[in-house]
Amino acid sequence: MAFQISLAMYVTLVCLALITLYGILKNIINSTYCYAIGPLFNKVNFKSKGKWALVTGCTDGIGKEYARQLAAKGCNIVLVSRNLQKLQATAAEIHIDFSVETKIIQADFTQEDIYEKISIEIEGLEIGTLVNNVGISYDYPEYFLQIPDWNDKVRAMFSANMVSVTRMMAMIMPDMVKRKKGVIINIASATASIPSPLLAVYGATKAYIQKLTEAIRIEYAGNGIIVQCVNPGYVTTNMSGIRRDSLLSPTPKKFVRSALALVGSANDTNGYYPHFILFDLITSLESLFKPFAEWATYRSMRNVRSRYLKKYKRQ
Ligand SMILES: NC(=O)c1ccc[n+]([C@@H]2O[C@H](COP(=O)([O-])OP(=O)(O)OC[C@H]3O[C@@H](n4cnc5c(N)ncnc54)[C@H](OP(=O)(O)O)[C@@H]3O)[C@@H](O)[C@H]2O)c1
Ligand SMILES: *[C@@H]1O[C@H](CO)[C@@H](O)[C@H](O)[C@H]1NC(C)=O
Ligand SMILES: *[C@@H]1O[C@H](CO)[C@@H](O)[C@H](O)[C@H]1NC(C)=O
Repeated sequence: MAFQISLAMYVTLVCLALITLYGILKNIINSTYCYAIGPLFNKVNFKSKGKWALVTGCTDGIGKEYARQLAAKGCNIVLVSRNLQKLQATAAEIHIDFSVETKIIQADFTQEDIYEKISIEIEGLEIGTLVNNVGISYDYPEYFLQIPDWNDKVRAMFSANMVSVTRMMAMIMPDMVKRKKGVIINIASATASIPSPLLAVYGATKAYIQKLTEAIRIEYAGNGIIVQCVNPGYVTTNMSGIRRDSLLSPTPKKFVRSALALVGSANDTNGYYPHFILFDLITSLESLFKPFAEWATYRSMRNVRSRYLKKYKRQ
């Protein structure tokens, strides 16, 4: 009898160990393939998709890097952003560094009457790549009911984060469908798939982008269009407020180099391997013990909030 119990326990333990090992191996193999091997075989020639690439919110941070790195691959660049001086400076910089043509369009994506103007400005341009990068967040993590300037801020996030992606795809895709090629890159956020307390509206707008992108990818894969959703963790930009780069907060340059290489081999991706490991851990933790994962993110966001408020009051 004792022998039988210990045998049963032994078999159970071995099975559990095998299952765990299988899970870990599967993740390692999948992610290695995705981040290291896939890009070697699925190199996308962006220039061959159309002469021009259009990037929204492109004078700083991640968007500016997409514009620069697509220019380095030989694409002419349409820059759509809010501030005219920054647009002119970015266009000049790209033209000098990469000898490609540029076109600037001044538009504020918190407004919704800009799309006719944009579509008139790009008439006749063959846009092969669209990067929907523009996005705005809270100034600091805050409770839903206490967001400063509630009406304006929430409306601005809806317009810049959700309406922009939806309207820009509707504007650019018909021509891609006609030419049977094109690349669309939508920048959501890693917060889209983990709990986002104190960033409720921002997190929800990013989840919208992820959901929209997935469905459109499925609908238009048959039309030769690559549709990718990128979900970054922290990147050192003005939005994150992180200045020093580290393994888990890369510079926009490092981040975009990694994410661009994954176009064609990853449809919905963190874009950067260390972010993948971090968010894979958080999601595994969430599936094992959700209350703990929620408590941990909530606690960490509350800390960020109090640090911000303390600093702000001292000034
Ligand atoms: N940084 C991160 O850690 C992080 C993490 C996850 C996801 N993301 C996402 O990545 C995207 C880019 O973020 P980022 O960190 O690179 O931001 P960023 O450094 O603040 O740059 C934002 C860019 O968008 C432009 N922009 C801002 N508001 C605009 C508006 N209303 N209309 C037109 N252009 C506007 C800015 O130009 P102006 O000078 O005119 O403001 C700037 O060129 C966003 O969608 C963000 O949600 C970022
Ligand atoms: C950086 O972000 C803050 C809001 O968080 C904004 O007021 C400021 O204008 C931004 N600076 C630049 C250079 O975009
Ligand atoms: C990406 O999406 C396309 C179109 O839906 C699909 O054919 C392909 O298998 C997907 N790739 C991966 C790595 O999931």
